[in-house]
Amino acid sequence: MSGFCFPGATACHYISTELIPPKFLHTFRAEKYAIFCDAFCPPLPSHFAFFIPRPTSQRLVSNLTCRSSLEPSRRHTFPITTTNRVPSANMKRVCIVGATRGLGRALLDLYASQSNTVVYGTARHDAPKEHEERVHWLSNIDVSKESAGPEILHQYGGNEPFDILYVTAGYFATETFDKPNWEDEVKTYAISAIGPVFLIHHLVHGNALKKGTKIVLISSEAGSICLRHEKEGGGNFSHHASKAALNMVGKLLSLDLKDKGIVVSLVHPGFMRTEMTKGVGYDKYWDAGGAVIPEVAAKTLAEWTDHLDMSKTGQLWAPRGARDIGTAEETMGPKDTLPTPLQLPW
Ligand SMILES: NC(=O)c1ccc[n+]([C@@H]2O[C@H](COP(=O)([O-])OP(=O)(O)OC[C@H]3O[C@@H](n4cnc5c(N)ncnc54)[C@H](OP(=O)(O)O)[C@@H]3O)[C@@H](O)[C@H]2O)c1
Repeated sequence: MSGFCFPGATACHYISTELIPPKFLHTFRAEKYAIFCDAFCPPLPSHFAFFIPRPTSQRLVSNLTCRSSLEPSRRHTFPITTTNRVPSANMKRVCIVGATRGLGRALLDLYASQSNTVVYGTARHDAPKEHEERVHWLSNIDVSKESAGPEILHQYGGNEPFDILYVTAGYFATETFDKPNWEDEVKTYAISAIGPVFLIHHLVHGNALKKGTKIVLISSEAGSICLRHEKEGGGNFSHHASKAALNMVGKLLSLDLKDKGIVVSLVHPGFMRTEMTKGVGYDKYWDAGGAVIPEVAAKTLAEWTDHLDMSKTGQLWAPRGARDIGTAEETMGPKDTLPTPLQLPW
């Protein structure tokens, strides 16, 4: 029996080419549908072959039948309830730039668990192996390089635009006034503030971001000049100032993209227990500062994004409010008087 495996699938996800009507072969061979395998197929021994009994449309069928060459008379039918993951017009497409760790990873896991969502996550290097059948990984995407946008377009290859684009890639290296670091400054600005301009330029011109898309740029309260206060002092120029630059980039992009109906939002996701904050020694503030695990911040952020619309384009928001903003009391007033979500000052 001739056949082939879905790209990205394990060998046991074997499709008999004889049993698939020719018009669907193309669909099955398209790499973007590789996620089907994981969506509805339990691991099966390699002597199983799948066939589709009555395909009716591009969205395929409501169940998939499988039979074993060792036991040809017996058919196993799997309901394809989760084939809603097929990137069809009514599916939500979410792209997360910087999805390997921290907040990006938590967003990826959250959206991957939603049956009506197709999630694309970018990795700076090779795609993590443990996720290859659950999400679409776009690999070798370095947001500090101009090639990031074209490379996403090339690997995405889809006709439909993304509904949500999160740009969460970030870098934080500590600096003091006495010991500023030139290389770290250039690297941080390139990731935080320069990369997003080119990324979004390419994705809009490549039609991957269109009317109705929500772009969520992950900024930080640290990038708000108004919120800086002697309580937390100076230093950390590259991280804080590059987020201030990102805030300006987001504001300008919101003006450029308003007529296209594309929302551009800047967000402080909350103080999180991630490698980023641990790497700069902020883990000593985790408890007192109310830091949450990234999964908690991701859930709040995704819910907030669900309600995001043009009325908030070009604004900086903290979906989790002021609870973890160390200088909020000094700069904005008593925390119990501040609403959640909270619009932050520039
Ligand atoms: N953690 C907080 O408390 C906090 C607070 C406010 C704002 N934020 C912001 O939230 C975002 C996520 O923070 P996090 O704590 O989750 O950070 P994290 O744990 O350090 O993760 C950073 C992510 O960005 C990716 N990345 C780094 N440089 C990249 C590049 N040049 N191109 C593409 N991807 C790159 C990393 O990929 P690799 O795995 O390849 O390194 C990783 O997936 C950041 O923008 C951060 O500034 C965080």
